[in-house]
Amino acid sequence: MKNIPIWQYDESKHPGEDFDIEAEIYDDKVRKFRDIRKENEELLSILNLQPDQIVLEIGAGTGEFALAAAKQCLKAIAVDTSFGMLKLAENKARSMNIENIEFIQSGFLTYDCKEPVDVAVSLMSLHYLPDFWKQIALFRFSKMTKKGATLLIKDSVYSFDIANYVEFFNCGLSRMASSVGTDSADWAASHIKEEHSTLNWIMEGMIKRAGFRIEKYDYMLGMYATYLCTKVP
Ligand SMILES: C[S@@+](CC[C@H](N)C(=O)[O-])C[C@H]1O[C@@H](n2cnc3c(N)ncnc32)[C@H](O)[C@@H]1O
Repeated sequence: MKNIPIWQYDESKHPGEDFDIEAEIYDDKVRKFRDIRKENEELLSILNLQPDQIVLEIGAGTGEFALAAAKQCLKAIAVDTSFGMLKLAENKARSMNIENIEFIQSGFLTYDCKEPVDVAVSLMSLHYLPDFWKQIALFRFSKMTKKGATLLIKDSVYSFDIANYVEFFNCGLSRMASSVGTDSADWAASHIKEEHSTLNWIMEGMIKRAGFRIEKYDYMLGMYATYLCTKVP
C-alpha cells in the first residue's frame, strides 16, 4: 500500500471486520444470506461484457465476481485492501486456471490504474468509506474509466422510510436472527452501527457529481441498492 498524505482517510484501517482474519471464513459466512453465484450471473447479464473489455473491481474480496467476469472479458483487475482476501482469490484463480486476472493490494483512494478500463465495479465495499471519501472514490472511478464506460455499484444503501428507522432495524435484525442465526444478525448490527452505509439520495447525487448517468437502479429491502451507470462526456 502506498504512502498517503496525513489528511487522507486511511482506507487500510476501515471500520468493521478485519478481512485478513475473516478471509478463510468469509465465503461461508456470506453464503448464509447471499446466493453469490446467482448474484454474479445477474450482474454479468446486466453488464453484457465483451471479449475485448477490461474490467476493474475494487473491493473484490475473495474474487467471486472478478473471476466470473474474467471468463467473459479480456482482463479483470481485482483490487482490495486486504492481503488475506486477495490471497484466497488468487488461489481460486490458480485452481480454476484463470490467467487473465490481476490481483492488486490497494484501495478506492490509492489504486493507480495503468490504463483506462471499460467497466468499473464495486460490490458491497464502497460503504467502508465515509461519504466524503465515497465521493472521492467515485471521482477516481471516473478518472480510471474510458469515455462511455460502465460503472456498476451494488452496496448497502438505505432507501427505507427514515421516520421508522427504529422499527426498520429492530424488525430486520430479529427476522435475520430467526432465519439465518444470531451471528449473522450481530454482524449486521455492527455494520449498521460502525460502517458507513449511506442514503439513496446521497448516493445518487454522488454518482451524478462524479460524472456518471444512472441508467438503472434497483432498491432492495430498503437497504440494498444496485446502480448501473454510464460515464458521461
Ligand atoms: C464485505 S466485503 C465484499 C467482498 C465482495 N465484493 C463481495 O461482494 O462479497 C468488503 C471488501 O472490501 C474491502 N475493502 C474495504 N475497504 C476498502 C477500500 N477502501 N478499498 C478497497 N477495498 C476495500 C475489504 O477488504 C473486503 O474484501
